[in-house]
Order: sequence, then C-alpha cells, then structure tokens
Amino acid sequence: MLHLRAAGVSLVLDARGGVPCVIHWGADLGELDDLALAALADAVVPAVPPSSVDVPLRFSLWPGLAEGWSGRPALAGHRQGVPAPALRLVALGDSWVRAKSADDSLELTTELELTPEGVLRIRHRLTNLGDTDFELSGLNMLLPIPEQASELLDFTGLWAHEREPQRGSLRHGVWSRESRHGRPGHDDAFLMMAGEPGFGFRRGRVWATHLAWSGDKQIWAERSALGYGALGAGELLEPGEIRLGPGDSYETPWLIAVFSDSGIDGLSDRLHPWIRSRSPLRLPRPVVLNTWEAVYFDHDFSVLGRLVDAAASVGVERFVLDDGWFTGRRDDKRALGDWYVDSSVWPDGLHPLISRVVSAGMEFGLWVEPEMISPDSDLARAHPSWMLDSSLTWRWQRVLDLNNPDAFAFVRDRLAALLSEYPIAYLKWDHNRDVLTPGATHRQTHALYRLLSELRASFPNVEIESCASGGARIDLGILDLVDRFWTSDTNDPLDRQKIQRWTSVLIPPEYLGGHLGAGAAHVTGRSSALGFRLATALFGSAGIEWNLNAASPSELAVIAEWIAEYKRLRPLLHTGVVVRADAADPANEVHGVVSQDRSSAVFALVALGTPRSALPPPVRFPGLDPNRVYTVRPIGTPPKMVQDAAPAWLSVGSVTLPGRVLSELGLPSPLLAPEQAILLSVDAS
Ligand code: DGJ
Repeated sequence: MLHLRAAGVSLVLDARGGVPCVIHWGADLGELDDLALAALADAVVPAVPPSSVDVPLRFSLWPGLAEGWSGRPALAGHRQGVPAPALRLVALGDSWVRAKSADDSLELTTELELTPEGVLRIRHRLTNLGDTDFELSGLNMLLPIPEQASELLDFTGLWAHEREPQRGSLRHGVWSRESRHGRPGHDDAFLMMAGEPGFGFRRGRVWATHLAWSGDKQIWAERSALGYGALGAGELLEPGEIRLGPGDSYETPWLIAVFSDSGIDGLSDRLHPWIRSRSPLRLPRPVVLNTWEAVYFDHDFSVLGRLVDAAASVGVERFVLDDGWFTGRRDDKRALGDWYVDSSVWPDGLHPLISRVVSAGMEFGLWVEPEMISPDSDLARAHPSWMLDSSLTWRWQRVLDLNNPDAFAFVRDRLAALLSEYPIAYLKWDHNRDVLTPGATHRQTHALYRLLSELRASFPNVEIESCASGGARIDLGILDLVDRFWTSDTNDPLDRQKIQRWTSVLIPPEYLGGHLGAGAAHVTGRSSALGFRLATALFGSAGIEWNLNAASPSELAVIAEWIAEYKRLRPLLHTGVVVRADAADPANEVHGVVSQDRSSAVFALVALGTPRSALPPPVRFPGLDPNRVYTVRPIGTPPKMVQDAAPAWLSVGSVTLPGRVLSELGLPSPLLAPEQAILLSVDAS
C-alpha cells in the first residue's frame, strides 16, 4: 500500500499485487497504518453489476481493456500489429511503481510525488525490452474523480483572447481537449477542472489537472456508464511519431494534479507556492519597457534613444528591443533566421543603444524567435532543408527543424554570439506559428527544451520570457526553463482583466507580463482611462508598451507615480496569496493579493461593465485573518465614479474593521463608471 499525504491531500494506492489501483485522490484521509490501509482497500472493492466483467472493476494506475476498463486507456500501441500486452506489478518503491508485461517485452515505471504543498505529480516511463520495434500511440496518466465532480471548467481562446473559461456538466462520455499546434495554442485547455456543481473561486471541492508539456497534448474528463469518473492527460502522438527500438524508452511529461476543498483559489494556493519553490525567480521583478507597440519595425536610434531616456525618467528598469533589429527585418514577411544586427539600421551594432540603456541605469533585453525561419531569408536560401516539412507559411514564416543538428547548432551559436557580444540581461523568446508538420512536435519540443537548457547553462544570468503570439505557450513544462510569460498580445485592460484573472489560477502573477499600453489599445482600438490601464498592469510582472515620447508630461508624472507604487507593492504582489471573490454581479469583480502572514493586502475592485443594480453588491475581501483588525484605504489613481455621494467609508478616506467583517459583510461598493478600477490597500493594525 502507498499512502501519500501532504497539505490536506491524500493519495492511496493499493499496490499489493496484480495491477496497482488508485483508491483515493482528494481530501486527506488522516493517519492510516498498514492494517487500516489494507482494510480500507479491501472495503472499497465495489459490487459486480450485471452484464459486466465477473470481477470487481477497480481504478487501475494503468487503466486498460485487460482489467475491463473500457474508457480511454493509459497505454496504446502495438508491436507489428499486435496490441500492447497487459502489465503486471513487479516492484514498488516509496514514490514509484514498476510493471512488466507477462512476456517481458515492455516495462513501465510510474513515478508519483505529492509535494509538501499538496501538488501531485505523475509520469510514466515505458521501455521496450523486446527485440523488435514497439510503436507507441499513447501513454497517459489517469486519476479517478468522485461523483460530486460533475461540473467541468476548462479554457479555450483566440489570439489576444487567451484563457476564455468554458463550463459544462460532465455527463457520460469523454470531454476531451486536444492541441495539435506544436505549442499549447491560444485555445489551450490549460487546466481541466472538475468540481462540485457551482464551484467558484472560494467554494466547492475541485479536482484539476494540467500537463506540463509545450507540444501537442490531450487532456480530458470522462465518466463511464459504470459510474467511474476520471481526469486524464498525455502527449498527443501522431502515428509513427514514437517508435521504440529494442532498449529504447519513452518518458511522458508530468501530469500535475491538484485537489482543493475551497474552490479555484484553493488550487492556486497549492500551485503557486509549489511553482515558487521549484522555479524561483529573481526578485524584485524589474519594470519593463517593451518597444513593440511603441515603434513596431520602425527602428531608429534617434526615436529609440529618446524612448530610453523617457523610460528611465519614469523608473523603468529593463528596456527590451522587440522585433525588427536583425538583417532585413523591416516587416514581418522576411529575415527570421538572419540573426545578425542590421547594419543599415544599426551601423554601429546595438552598442550605442545598449550604452544609452545601461548608462541610464537599466538592463537591456532583446526579442528573438529562434525556432523560426523565413523563406525569404539568407538562412533559408543557404539551407532550404532546415525548414520543417510544411509548405504552409503562417505569418510568412516556417519552422526551423531543430532536430537537424546543424540547424540546432547554428541557432544556438548565433544566440550565444549575441549574448557574448552584448550585455543582454533578457531574451523575449517568441514563437509565432503552429508547427503543422505531422509527427514532428515531440522531437521539436524536446529540441526546444534542449536549446533553452544549453543557453541557460552557458548564460545563467540571462532571463528568458516565453512568448508565442502572446500567450500561446504558457505551461509548466517550459516554466522550468523560462522566467516570464508574455500573457497576451492585447494590452486592452478590459481583455487583460479576464486573461490575467484566469491565467493566474495556474501561474503566479510575478511570471505574467502585464503592460501599460496606449490610450487606444492597439489590438482592439478601444480607449480606456489611464487609471484603469495602470490598475490592470499592476497585478503581474509590470511593464510599459507605449511610445512614451508621445505621452504628455502629466501622463508621464502619473506613470512615474504608478511605477513608484508598484515598486513599493511588488514584494507583496509577487510573494502573496492570490485571492478572488465570487462575484454576484459579473460587472463588478474583486481580486487581490494577501501577504503570506496576512498582515497586508492589495485589492482591486474592477467595474467591467454596468452593474445590474444601482447599488452593486458589497466589496468583500477574501483571505484576510478573521481575527485581526485591518484598515482599508484607496491608493493609486482615483477612478471615475458615478455617484451623488460616495459610500461613507470612502468619503472619510479609510475604515478600520476586523478581517471577519471585511470578508463576510464587506464594504458598500463605490459606484465606479464602467471600465474603471479602484485599488485598496488593506493593512493590519
Ligand atoms: C508576437 C508577440 O506576441 C509580440 O509581443 C511581438 O513581440 C511580435 N510577435 C513581434 O513580431
């Protein structure tokens, strides 16, 4: 028997022989000795229904037809047309289980880890012990979910509209989300949640899974007519993609599985501390200015030099030169692969710009898109065979075949040369198309991980941001190798509120780039107030994506104040507990970050639209210590309000009340105009 327990979560595995069965994954079952565990495992053997296999069906760690499981299987594949044989347990360790097929031709090892934060990780490794090839078509991790987990929440999306939540009920059958983009994609399912009906941010039990993988994948929820429910996930393999020769192994990505008895926030509350402990970031996160929406491809030192000065004057700490700096890249139709500084635009290389950045006290960052190649590039003309096999272009570009050792070495060495020649602190690493080459993404994704690993080993001080046409590659596989995600290409605060809210369920906010854009958002054309844009960009790894040369002196003064406030708040924002109130009226949302010791917090009340009632529901402050007394006061740029008189506490300027009162009763909401936000600091006495 295996009983893993941590942070209010239990996983019980009956591995006494035959096939290991998952008895329980969910709330902590308490201390159980060997006898109690065995008694539990025996007691939960189910009835045998009519018209079924004649033995009780239990939820195996490797469900498949051999045990009578007719749902999606863990293992699928064949050897010269003969399906994979059944597996039987042969060895058990503290955190792993090993099985072999009866004919000794396959060996499967499953690692299970329950972290101190209560995050469960599972992965398999399959080895071909036979003397002929084994063709693998799928190797998945599955976990049981109970009958209460009958409501699903996962995500879809589009470019600039990532992580759009979608809810539905789990009925008999499979709800499966598949990515064939060669990257997770804008419509990535991201996190598959199954919970009690009506589960919210702060209520209901929820079971959730994520696959830590940046290539093709499937993630699903299933309930069978027998009554079993499951969450499953694995890499999505094309026919012929994984052929294991004698002695070869295939290892799955990690399945990340989280249980919460306190809604979606409870998931974040396990995931964020775990992610922070295993992928520690250098804090404080610097304030970024990115040139993309400021100048696009129009690189001109006189303009960019003034932008450097303006950035430094408001308190920016990292200046990032986006797309357009390399040979021939005057638009997005050409030149990817020609990673040499364009001497027609930068006759002295990037040195004059970088010197200006560094002497203004900032770090320098550079945009690259190493996995891509433009057909119209010197690189493609010299090495047409380095382009992956898909004649379709997308943004006029093709994919560089990183499994070609020469192509891999070229791009690695070019990046290394740039990082050696220039004091580059940061790479914005982009990926702007789907791969669209059948059978290529497993190897391409591993090659990407190798490329990132090699560069990080050689340049450990260089930070990397994962960008993929905005947020099309945000996952816990690549997070081991990067320091920041570009959350979305939209800087429109109305879209950003939603995208950041949902992306931060999985990813802690300090990894998520959020930039202040121009008054009229470039992607949507919608205009919004400076205060709303600032309050939105504050809750992440904050930055600017606006041509500050065109900002007015008063706007620059407000931005400088905002940056100063952000610098004061970021120790809290980037280490605290992310909380979101369940909204009775979707027009008004409350979210915030509470310090780990619950002594201080920052909240935002956000008006996304017009409320349903003249007096919207009170502002409730989740996550505070009920037994401490807090003072609430507004901070930041005052929003536009539409009220004849403000609520009493706001007219006075602050209020001091116990945490229990602030969480339960809340404070009367100020009447914000649509698309406005008010920031509230909450400090214990
Ligand atoms: C897509 C990214 O998401 C943008 O931020 C920008 O870097 C462009 N690519 C540049 O081509």
